[in-house]
Parts: sequence; structure tokens; C-alpha cells
Amino acid sequence: MALDEMMRIPEHVALILDGNGRWAKKRGLPRTMGHKEGCATVEKTVEIAARMGIRYLTVYGFSTENWKRSEQEVGALMQLFRYYMVRLLKIASANNVRVRMIGDRARFDRDIVEGINRLEVQTKDNTGLTFVIAVNYGGRDEIRRAASKLAKDCVEGRVLPEQIDEAVFSSYLDTAEIPDPDLLIRTSGELRLSNYLLWQLAYTEIVVTDCLWPDFCQEELEKAIVQYNKRDRRFGGVK
Ligand code: IPE
Ligand code: IPE
Ligand code: MG
Repeated sequence: MALDEMMRIPEHVALILDGNGRWAKKRGLPRTMGHKEGCATVEKTVEIAARMGIRYLTVYGFSTENWKRSEQEVGALMQLFRYYMVRLLKIASANNVRVRMIGDRARFDRDIVEGINRLEVQTKDNTGLTFVIAVNYGGRDEIRRAASKLAKDCVEGRVLPEQIDEAVFSSYLDTAEIPDPDLLIRTSGELRLSNYLLWQLAYTEIVVTDCLWPDFCQEELEKAIVQYNKRDRRFGGVK
């Protein structure tokens, strides 16, 4: 079934882009070539999502666990990140895209942190798609950092423990003011969350495709949206 105007476009799509390594291996190439191709696919996906009228696209770029990879692979990913941050500024401006980063920036080199800040500041007034990139991101780490900030505000008298409801807690997360994802797409067939958006995915519809991330395209995104449209969304109640 093709996407038609009757389809509901999810407001927020979250993506676990997986399979860069497998894509490269299949072609006898080094893993880093898979990452390079994967970055080009991220660029294309941002443009496609913006055109489709998706309001928020959150992409998992580098997890808190990905530091366990070889020094060479981590180094190559950081270099790609530096390169694509600059390109992203142009793409964001051309497509009216606002960029936001989630995750702990403290572990990155200074030039990367400055690049992230620049991207956010220079795109903050764009009114189209909000492109959220999760880098050095882990759901548990995000919740831990939120709890720590909240505890500090309690100790210093700014918040009373009995005032902490879900909305207050959410406002301490990196995703403050971003609605929860409606649809999660994971490429490359793995059936796990890998520490992604643990709080925010509570009622998100999940679609897993065997497509390897560098091969992801508009048709794959449309197929996921068609599946999303067939879901009977429930939030614990009855119809
Ligand atoms: C996803 O591809 C990109 C990152 C996690 C940075 P992988 O590198 O995990 O690729 P596979 O899973 O080994 O194929
Ligand atoms: C998830 O992919 C993290 C990112 C896409 C950045 P991984 O390849 O790191 O996840 P696992 O190891 O398969 O769970
Ligand atoms: Mg992987």
C-alpha cells in the first residue's frame, strides 16, 4: 500500500539506525565506510521527513555504550560527526529545520561541543521539522542526570518532593518540551531498545525492518508509516 493523503503522519518519529557495520561487511569494506554511507542516509532522511510534514525526528547517532568500540572506530565516528555537523547547518537552513542534541556533551572534545551549540543556536528559529540527534546518549544516563538535577533543586528548596509528578520529571530530561515519539523504527532487524529513550517510548508503536541503515530510503519510511496507520493505538485504556 502506498502512502496517500488519508494516512496519519506521526508527529514524532524516533529512529534507531543500525546496521552500518553489516552493510560494509557485506561489501567487503571497513566498518567506517558503512558509517560514512549511514551519515549520508541521515542527511537524506532529514530532508524526506521535513517534506513529509513530520514535526520531530529523533535519531540515535552514538550511545553511551558505543564508547566500548575500538579506538579506531570511535575516532572515525567523531571525525564523521565533525564533518556532518557543518553540512547539517546548510541542510537545516535550506529545509527550515531546527536542530537539537540530546545526550551528555561533557565527554566530547571542545570543538565538537562548540559545533553542537552553534548548530542549535543558529537553527533555533526555524519552524519546520525539529531534528533531534542523540549523541553520547543513553536512556538510563539521561534519567540519572535528570534525577541528579532534580535532587539538587529539592535540596536547594526550588522544588518540593511532593510536587514531582511525571510532567515535572519530564521537564528535567534532555527531551524537555519534545512530545513522546509516536513511532519507533529500528533498522537491521534487532528486537531491542539498546538503551534508547527509555522514559519517552512508554507507549510508542514499534516497527522493525530488516533493511540495513545505509539502504534506508523514502519507501522504507513510508512502509513504516503504513504499518503505523494499521495499529490500534491504546494507552492502557479500553475503546
Ligand atoms: C549503527 O550501526 C551505527 C552506530 C551504532 C554508531 P552499527 O555500527 O551498530 O552496525 P552493525 O550493527 O555492527 O551492523
Ligand atoms: C544502537 O545500536 C545505538 C545506535 C544506533 C547509536 P547498537 O548497534 O550500538 O546496539 P546493539 O549493540 O546492537 O544493542
Ligand atoms: Mg549495531
